[in-house]
Amino acid sequence: MAETGARLTDGFEPQVIALCNADALVNSGEAVPFDVVYCGQSCLAFAIRYDNAVHAYLNRCSHVPMEMDYQPNRFFDLTGHWLICSTHGATYSPRTGACQGGPCRGGLIKIETSERDGVVHWHTAHNLQPVSF
Ligand code: FES
Repeated sequence: MAETGARLTDGFEPQVIALCNADALVNSGEAVPFDVVYCGQSCLAFAIRYDNAVHAYLNRCSHVPMEMDYQPNRFFDLTGHWLICSTHGATYSPRTGACQGGPCRGGLIKIETSERDGVVHWHTAHNLQPVSF
């Protein structure tokens, strides 16, 4: 399900795409995964809820471009306050994706999200598109 956003002057037309019901994401709980095309490449992404706000990122560590979850859809460390990469332990802020510690080489790639009428949506961008089937 996609909705069309306002057309920008350069012709890019962002889309707002329904991802999941809002109650599928609980604070510091499991993520909801989704597929995107980032810079022309198929990638996994994930949405989480932290401190009552939804955030989404590419599932790609900035240290080595690997998926980060140590078990499917589990990204939070034991404290529930940091996202952790299972490979070498880089940690990231769930609010911003910024590196907090470990061998990060920059932050996570953030995906804009919104919540409306009990549904979480993600937003496309120039370099971030839905997978076409
Ligand atoms: S691949 Fe994520 S910390 Fe090394």
